[in-house]
Amino acid sequence: MSQSDLPAIAIDDLHLAYAGRRVLDGLNLQVPAGCVYALLGGNGAGKSSTLSVLLGFVKPSSGQVRVAGLDPVKDANAARAQLAYLPENVALYEHLSALENADYLLALAGTPRRPQEIGQAFAAAGLQEQAWTQRLSGFSKGMRQKVAIAVATLRQVPVLLLDEPTSGLDPRATGDFNRLIDGVRSRGGAVLMVTHDLLGAVDVADRIGFLEHGRIVEEVGPGQRGFDVATLHARFAQRQDQAA
Ligand SMILES: Nc1ncnc2c1ncn2[C@@H]1O[C@H](COP(=O)(O)OP(=O)(O)OP(=O)(O)O)[C@@H](O)[C@H]1O
Ligand SMILES: [Mg+2]
Repeated sequence: MSQSDLPAIAIDDLHLAYAGRRVLDGLNLQVPAGCVYALLGGNGAGKSSTLSVLLGFVKPSSGQVRVAGLDPVKDANAARAQLAYLPENVALYEHLSALENADYLLALAGTPRRPQEIGQAFAAAGLQEQAWTQRLSGFSKGMRQKVAIAVATLRQVPVLLLDEPTSGLDPRATGDFNRLIDGVRSRGGAVLMVTHDLLGAVDVADRIGFLEHGRIVEEVGPGQRGFDVATLHARFAQRQDQAA
């Protein structure tokens, strides 16, 4: 298979351990271009760790990962240039305004955008116009999240890695986020989204995968049995029962 034939995100038989403690244990996961993949799993299942491997932050014990055909383990910078990452805990500059944050972060990433484009993305993320020129220090968690989501989508890169993107968002803002992700899908972006929001996952995802015991134990798509909030919720309940 040539590099261009690979899915935008390709994880093949990935094993990861921290100080001998096994976290990922033969994980396989593919996200083609134009596909939104929602990764579900209990706390500590290894979801954020999976993103960390794709970002080149941690080295796997074995297995292979590719981001837009590039190997983040060997060349993290090249792989990172192809992706936008929304961390679990968004970090922005408190003393800068929303616009200044976006302007600075996009320039830093080598993808500068005009203020008008940034404003459009803010509006699409549901950030009220009067907040655009205000310092982040007065922002709520949800408002910060909207700034970070806008920046991630403005990068216009082939791959988006989003760690709990709707955490802190009210239902209306979650709807705005879902429409933004629809836009990413339409332009052929690949999205790997870690989430605990089952309703959001069913609304926006093309695939939903359930991470347990370090690997995907179930994967479903729209129209398939199990692709609904009630079944997914029951899966979590069952998981807790097993752990108890
Ligand atoms: N840097 C690290 N060093 C050591 N152990 C770690 C490190 N990062 C994560 N872990 C451990 O790896 C396991 C998986 O953590 P991870 O953050 O990937 O889980 P998660 O699925 O994202 O959970 P959550 O839903 O709570 O965010 C946990 O047991 C965690 O304690
Ligand atoms: Mg996590």
